[in-house]
Amino acid sequence: MKENVTLIKHPLIQHKLTMLRDKNTSSKDFRELVNELSMLMAFEVTRNLPVEDVEIETPICKTVGKCLSGLDVAIVPIMRAGMGMVEGMLSLIPNAKVGHIGLYRNEETIEPIEYYCKLPSDISKRLVIVTDPMLATGGSLRDAITMLKNRGAVNIKAMILVATETGINEVLKYHPDIEIYTISIDEGLNEKSYIVPGLGDAGDRLFGTK
Ligand code: PRP
Ligand code: URA
Repeated sequence: MKENVTLIKHPLIQHKLTMLRDKNTSSKDFRELVNELSMLMAFEVTRNLPVEDVEIETPICKTVGKCLSGLDVAIVPIMRAGMGMVEGMLSLIPNAKVGHIGLYRNEETIEPIEYYCKLPSDISKRLVIVTDPMLATGGSLRDAITMLKNRGAVNIKAMILVATETGINEVLKYHPDIEIYTISIDEGLNEKSYIVPGLGDAGDRLFGTK
């Protein structure tokens, strides 16, 4: 395992991922599972956020506790499917700002096509957490990170549900400075560049399209 890749393993996560992979899971349940998995992953992705001492008074006495300090967060979903991971993140980091990057894979070339980008104006000062359920060939995440860097982002982590070795290698070849968090590194890609075993088309399953 590369040092900037974290594979998060937990029984709750493994259970929910199996439900997510199941082709009989409805769009409603799929959305809920993506939301819950994002919350569970957020716990790990934000593990190193800086904290500072804060004096407070409990009903019993004065004490010093820890509060988040200094580093603000931006959550940046890669549309469409990455949007399914935003709500779960925001429930844990309610003060985060949310940017959006629009990319879709051309079905023939499998290369990502850019169609949208709107980011917080202070993106360079924030920890940027890019969300996308799928890291297949790696083209979409590679280009999303390039777009972020071109607009000033320097501190970037990616939160992926299902990844492949190929996708991870592609992203880290161009962006060795970023960190990738995932809950599975699957076997590989099929002839249409879908992840095997994967979970199918995440955007279609989230939004009930196709
Ligand atoms: C999916 C997925 C990733 C991308 C991964 O998006 O959400 O963004 O494919 O594939 P890659 O690693 O080979 O680039 P898709 O292009 O299907 O768009 P959608 O989210 O709008 O459905
Ligand atoms: N995008 C998806 O939604 N699923 C895959 O398996 C690959 C790319």
